[in-house]
Amino acid sequence: MDNNQNNLMEKIVALCKRRGFIFPGSEIYGGLAGTWDYGPTGALMKKNLKDLWWKEMVQLREDVVGVDAAIFMNPKAWEASGHLEAFTDPLIECKVCHQRFREDKPEDIEAHEKTHQGEKVEWTQPQQFNLLVKAFLGVIEGKQSEVYLRGEITNGVHVNFKNVMDSTRVKIPFGIAQMGKAFRNEITPKDFIFRSREFEQMELQFYIKPDQKEGEKWFDYWKNERMNWYLSLGMKKENLRFKDHEKLAHYAKAATDIEYNAPWGWDEMMGIHNRGDWDLSRHSKFSGQDLSVLDIETNEKYIPWDIETSAGVDRSFLFILLDSYREEGERVWLSLDPRLAPYKVAVFPLLANKPELIEKAKSIYENLKPQMMVAWDDRGNIGKRYASQDEVGTPYCITVDFDTLKDDTVTVRDRDTAKQIRVKVNELKPYLLERI
Ligand code: GAP
Repeated sequence: MDNNQNNLMEKIVALCKRRGFIFPGSEIYGGLAGTWDYGPTGALMKKNLKDLWWKEMVQLREDVVGVDAAIFMNPKAWEASGHLEAFTDPLIECKVCHQRFREDKPEDIEAHEKTHQGEKVEWTQPQQFNLLVKAFLGVIEGKQSEVYLRGEITNGVHVNFKNVMDSTRVKIPFGIAQMGKAFRNEITPKDFIFRSREFEQMELQFYIKPDQKEGEKWFDYWKNERMNWYLSLGMKKENLRFKDHEKLAHYAKAATDIEYNAPWGWDEMMGIHNRGDWDLSRHSKFSGQDLSVLDIETNEKYIPWDIETSAGVDRSFLFILLDSYREEGERVWLSLDPRLAPYKVAVFPLLANKPELIEKAKSIYENLKPQMMVAWDDRGNIGKRYASQDEVGTPYCITVDFDTLKDDTVTVRDRDTAKQIRVKVNELKPYLLERI
């Protein structure tokens, strides 16, 4: 990471804390490594991101339905998915200070060796370390059953494949979308919310006929759909790229990541995989349930293939913040797509000690609230209020001043250009709705 990039990351982390996007998890107790809490603005923006994804993936499509499966699953599901056996990272330990690292992250190892300044650092042999987080269910101490917090949200979808087919009108090809928390006992959580131990995923499992050409067609289709979605959110094209996996997992037929040009180098934001019939075949075998479907044209049964798109909510969130950060002299703002911005508009009375201004501003605030998230600020001077709204990416700020009381117009200030215009109060709502 060069200095500028390093600074950018530091600036984003500081801005997130200062403006209520993200706080270190359980901070007043000294924190808990690999956990983060979304604050008032962060929670709003994260919800906007997830809502936009759901709208695109479920609401606007005829061939996708959504589910919300339990986090706890019968442990057999994790045996079937291969997670008990192979959801591992190679762990090595520094023999000098006993800190643990991933052997497959040479940059972390190099950075750690430098901290021992000239000392010869020896490492233990790599051990495969399972990332699944264990939990215990049941009310009798000693007789509790061991379960796992899901390491990915995927299997809650596969185990409901038959239920969904039986309870809805979907036909192959179709998809099941899901969003939710996943948990991994990461050896080295790092880079803010990029790699944490508790995070959220947004996934689509798209089931198709088991056919090479069909697989290639849908794989390409979903690659482009997902890339276009990030571009449609205003992310810079030059900061996004596809990266094919060099080594495919034994069950995968094709795998590509969408990477972001992060301050520490290109890194994974999400993945698109052609997983063949691996998942449904394994769940069929381990559960003893027939998960095949009947092809009514050929009267043959088959296990569908799965084209998976799996995105990290938190990684997308972080990369969108980095991508939208702008600085001009003293001015700092987030040039967020208005749909993602925590607040769409902020309303200010010019002075906090003039009841007639407060009353007018409050009536505008109350009038806009049912349609959009509106911030209210009557602290400090107008410059400071603009600065704080800029830093949370609020696209428009409205100021009620003495002219408002005369001609019923307000100042509307645009976040990106900092230009101000006067708009009639009764035209304010359509003006904003058109732009957010
Ligand atoms: N079902 C497929 C799956 O889970 P993955 O590549 O392990 O695949 C998918 O994870 C996405 O989940 C990643 O591209 C990343 O965005 C996010 N992700 C994975 N591990 C993460 C972690 N420790 N912290 C934050 N996000 C993570």
